[in-house]
Amino acid sequence: MAKGLVGQLLTTEQIQAKVRELGDQISRDYAGEELLVVGILKGAFVFCADLLRTVTVPCKVDFMAVSSYGQSTESSGVIKIIKDLDSSVEGRHVLLVEDIVDSGLTLRYLREHLQHQNAKSVKVCVLLDKPSRRKTEVAVDYRGFGIPDEFIVGYGIDYAENYRHLPYIGMIGEVD
Ligand code: IMP
Ligand code: MG
Repeated sequence: MAKGLVGQLLTTEQIQAKVRELGDQISRDYAGEELLVVGILKGAFVFCADLLRTVTVPCKVDFMAVSSYGQSTESSGVIKIIKDLDSSVEGRHVLLVEDIVDSGLTLRYLREHLQHQNAKSVKVCVLLDKPSRRKTEVAVDYRGFGIPDEFIVGYGIDYAENYRHLPYIGMIGEVD
């Protein structure tokens, strides 16, 4: 059986309202500070772009690309940095922006990686959280939605590089 889109989990409107809430909270928490927002490519690129436009404190933006999934729907557990930051994080308040926390391995690795490089603080903002899939503890400071154990796509998130362009979050399943 082939896999394809089987339904919608979150609408564009639900996502936009949540992104604004997160941005407002971040703006309040970092009042008087400057932020380095680090988007995790590729999945977080749409979320990061929307979130940034709701944040009112001064920001710089950088990106990292990591891989752990390849063409599969299961994490290999091995995190590899494909693209590192362009600038140093030393002495800066870093906000990691990620699409999904699933096993937690990616964010745990990245948080520790940046802490070791002497960031002043490292916090994590994720749009989606699948708590039932966690394999390692990782603190999530800003969390959009808790979701069930479904493979989801859209709003920047892919299945084998497809569906990133969808303006909503959909679910992947068996289709004829
Ligand atoms: P973790 O290291 O297992 O927490 O994996 C997090 C990463 O896995 C996310 O950044 C996504 O790239 C990917 N991922 C986890 N769940 C899904 C999903 O349902 N759809 C697409 N990608 C996913
Ligand atoms: Mg990802």
